[in-house]
Amino acid sequence: MTQRTLIGPFKQIIPMTGLKLKGAILDNELNVIDDGGMVIENEQILAIGNFEDLKLKFPEIAIHQLKGNHVCLPGFIDAHTHICFGGSRAKDYAMRNAGKSYLEIANAGGGIWDTVTQTRKASMEELTKNTIKRANRHLKNGTTTLEVKSGYGLTVDEELKMLRAIKEADKVALPELISTCLAAHMLPKDFEGSETVYLKMISEELFPVLKKENLTNRIDAFIEQSAFSSEDIKAYFLKAKDLNFDITVHADQFSTSGSKVAVDYNAISADHLEASTDNEIDLLANSDTIAVALPGASIGLGCNFTPARKLLDAGAALAIASDHNPGSAPMGDLLTQASILGTFEKLTNAEVLAGITFRAAAALKLEDRGKLEVGHLADLAVFHSDNYQDILYNQGNLKPCMIWKNGVLVFD
Ligand code: NIG
Ligand code: FE
Repeated sequence: MTQRTLIGPFKQIIPMTGLKLKGAILDNELNVIDDGGMVIENEQILAIGNFEDLKLKFPEIAIHQLKGNHVCLPGFIDAHTHICFGGSRAKDYAMRNAGKSYLEIANAGGGIWDTVTQTRKASMEELTKNTIKRANRHLKNGTTTLEVKSGYGLTVDEELKMLRAIKEADKVALPELISTCLAAHMLPKDFEGSETVYLKMISEELFPVLKKENLTNRIDAFIEQSAFSSEDIKAYFLKAKDLNFDITVHADQFSTSGSKVAVDYNAISADHLEASTDNEIDLLANSDTIAVALPGASIGLGCNFTPARKLLDAGAALAIASDHNPGSAPMGDLLTQASILGTFEKLTNAEVLAGITFRAAAALKLEDRGKLEVGHLADLAVFHSDNYQDILYNQGNLKPCMIWKNGVLVFD
């Protein structure tokens, strides 16, 4: 049955329409609808414009009447997280702040391997429950679509356990979860064999099951000295492409080479990029690969931010994601992190908002969200305010007062 509702009036709607995918954006390019309204039909946007005009155009419609000042944005899209995990790494955080480096902590038995051990100990049900809980926390901060990676299993069975847990979590969690296989996160310490032997096993034994069970269509790899080299990953990515998986890369976090891999394999996104130099920035800007900044990892590790300003000025498409994970990015608050990246990198409001809406949608190859336009999903993040500038100005402390997901009011 068709259900239509007119929502409004909003003091401002920022639909993020008419903006380009790549390069710098000025705030005056933002299309602002004053005294706006939106008609939603089932899960989609049917019409958007002036509230009073819509009322006349749809005389019989049910109205979700708003009182006071509200600003409406597209629901945020967090294109990179690792929220399916067991245990905690609070000890790593303390060690790091006491002066130990990421690699020193990893070598001392902390780091990713610690989370692998804890995640392997957890049952699928526990992982599902934790993932739902974390995803719903993201929803309250405005995120209506959330990517979630595996990568703490690192055997065929344990990776399957994670990806099945993410699939189960997606049935219950309020944001939509988009899963990614990150079996190429690191060479598991208990694997007897080289990087290439491990990756061959994963591609031969895991990839077909991912397809069969419809667990994900995205393959990620961590290209880094402590993980996999561009040589190691060749056959793995070729096999993934053969099977029609989309590729995404953890690139240039501590050293360069990842973004070249990303561009060479026509990856949808290259994420991290804290170590990218002008070379890598150029490569990305001249490619179709979306550059994804992860300020949460810079804040968690206490290191430099992704050169977001330079990427945008060079013409790259810049998305911003939380990287929420138990190690390098424990905070997991996308809006806070994106606004902080804006202050350090001198990004306009429009660029930051683009990074967590339609440019993030592009990083996940999702064409039905990220902008408020007819036919798109009615995923809305609504704030009590009379001006959209308040949202980033409050650096994450102004929380949404209302969230709609697929045309349903899920948080109020
Ligand atoms: O994106 N860089 C590699 N992987 C994660 C960290 C995961 C972890 O530390 O558990 C990241 O930062
Ligand atoms: Fe990550």
